[in-house]
Amino acid sequence: MASSNRTLLQSSIVRKQIVAVTGLAMVGFLIAHLSGNFLIFAGPEAFNGYSKKLHDLGPILWVLRIGLIAALLGHVVLAIKLTGENHAARGGRYAVSNSRGDGGFCKKTMIYTGILILVFVALHLYDFTYRDKTGDPTIVEGVNGGLSLGLFGLVWNSFLQPWHSGLYILAMIILGFHLSHGIQSLFQSIGFFHDRYTPMVKKIGFALAILLAVGFISIPIYVNVVRTPHL
Ligand code: HEM
Repeated sequence: MASSNRTLLQSSIVRKQIVAVTGLAMVGFLIAHLSGNFLIFAGPEAFNGYSKKLHDLGPILWVLRIGLIAALLGHVVLAIKLTGENHAARGGRYAVSNSRGDGGFCKKTMIYTGILILVFVALHLYDFTYRDKTGDPTIVEGVNGGLSLGLFGLVWNSFLQPWHSGLYILAMIILGFHLSHGIQSLFQSIGFFHDRYTPMVKKIGFALAILLAVGFISIPIYVNVVRTPHL
């Protein structure tokens, strides 16, 4: 790699900007992912139909996946590097932020909530992406004549287990903490600071973080309240 690129990448400003832009890309994924998952309220046909459309994208889905994986890796690796540098610079306290002086719990715990989200994503991919979507775990008791309900059935049955729902709800609360500081902070990292608009960006960022967390949490709660899906 040319030395000029190496110097550029070593600059903490550029690293923060990469963390910000990759973070923004993943927030975009979460909005799309939540919108798709809300089809669980419409029943198995709509939910499984959407998943089939996604998978029928074939190579395009893989391009999107590789983009998402690259964003995740860039975000995590650089955020950990920046945390380490900040740790060294601040004489032992961990903090990654460029916000001007308002040090809340969500800001101080970004590295921890980030790592917990990473662990969640690994478990989650095992849960719903790399699981058989035809066998017994996809049959919801007393529904559809005992026939498989595919991915919908897998998600439904998973959330009928209280520990599984509890784990997802906890993970979504942690996601909410991470995003509630992350979204507003990313705008400052990409250089957007305006006396009049920054307070609004902070409010919108906070509201979006809450909406995403509550939106995802509503799914396991819905399954546990309704218990038998409407076909
Ligand atoms: C209640 C919350 C959630 C539910 C019910 C849910 C549901 C699902 C389902 C059903 C799939 C499989 C899709 C398919 O194969 O068609 C999936 C995949 C995935 N989910 Fe989630 N999800 C949730 C939260 C999240 C969160 C918070 C993240 C990220 C932080 C996330 C990241 C992913 C990723 C990366 C995939 C793989 C997408 C692919 O196939 O490339 N999910 N999720």
